Amino acid sequence: MIRAGVFGATGYTGFELVSLLEQHPEVEIVFVASQSYAGRSLREMYVGGSDLPLIAPGDAPLDATDVVFLCLPHAAAAQTAVAALNAGNKVIDLSADFRLKDVAVYEKWYGIPHPAPELLPEAIYGLTEFARESLQSTRLVANPGCYTTTCLLALQPLMAAQVAINGDVVIDAKSGVSGAGRKPKTNTLFVEVANNFSPYSIGRSHRHLPEMEQVISWWHQTPPQLIFSPHLLPVPRGILANIYVPLAGTVDQAALRALYEDVYADEPFVRVLPAGELATLAHVVHTNRCVMSLTFAGNMLIITSATDNLVKGAAGQALQNMNVMFGCEETVGLVR
Ligand SMILES: NC(=O)c1ccc[n+]([C@@H]2O[C@H](COP(=O)([O-])OP(=O)(O)OC[C@H]3O[C@@H](n4cnc5c(N)ncnc54)[C@H](OP(=O)(O)O)[C@@H]3O)[C@@H](O)[C@H]2O)c1
Repeated sequence: MIRAGVFGATGYTGFELVSLLEQHPEVEIVFVASQSYAGRSLREMYVGGSDLPLIAPGDAPLDATDVVFLCLPHAAAAQTAVAALNAGNKVIDLSADFRLKDVAVYEKWYGIPHPAPELLPEAIYGLTEFARESLQSTRLVANPGCYTTTCLLALQPLMAAQVAINGDVVIDAKSGVSGAGRKPKTNTLFVEVANNFSPYSIGRSHRHLPEMEQVISWWHQTPPQLIFSPHLLPVPRGILANIYVPLAGTVDQAALRALYEDVYADEPFVRVLPAGELATLAHVVHTNRCVMSLTFAGNMLIITSATDNLVKGAAGQALQNMNVMFGCEETVGLVR
């Protein structure tokens, strides 16, 4: 059995992860930790929560676990990672702390000194489909962001094939409200969100932008600039992005479709829909899928990509990464 611990278990990604771990046949949950609710149980926090007792983070028995998941805000995650690694654990961090390789870029976008810059070189960026080999030997995984996962899976075939792009790639993305976490904020109150649809951090100002641009620069020799405009959708969960890619030269629609079908042919969690079908949130919610569709409009390729932000965009991908790291069947415990 893989002995697992979860920090931040009372948050949205933490609760989703604990729920997945409880169903995993090869996992024993050793502890679930909470700073605010130690001494209570998950049942008191969530309808459908189990009787697992919440312990204080400082009481976590890090010498009794093999893997620790960090479902914490950035900064708190990196500090906890250091303690968990020092105790001999593998660490899967759902925060942004180890996603950006350049400390200066992290400090610019997150506005704080990096709490553990010495760990950045060894952290593996855990977009599972493109990191399997590195995942098998690492002890530290940076689980990608939710928007980032949705967009990078959509862009990878074009980028890795060095397809020529003629201008900026525009990403028009929408997320359900759980993407903002469970901590109360004015803009996620029911009265603000219900019957509304609002943009935020549009253009080049959202923190997932440098993460996406970093990764596409690993794939494409002349990566395009991204314009990324997220929106808050009045639904609990799910992300849908329309990604507008201006292609250079003559567009061979059949060849591009074949490229996508080929890259994802054997992927259990990524589906490219047949021509004429469009990806929707209903294709993905409560699953670990990324479902995408391709639409051509002249020289513009529009990739519509959808995920569940709490599953493939967070807890599901974290579990998928754990499966690869520990040599389990990659799909165990996850809805395909
Ligand atoms: N929501 C998403 O769709 C999503 C997707 C991908 C990645 N992420 C990332 O995953 C992480 C968790 O996100 P979330 O949406 O689950 O957030 P959340 O619902 O706000 O939960 C975070 C949890 O962390 C604990 N916490 C808060 N501040 C802390 C601190 N200073 N020190 C220690 N623990 C603290 C809180 O639990 P206690 O007070 O009970 O300890 C809280 O329940 C974040 O880094 C987020 O960016 C989120």
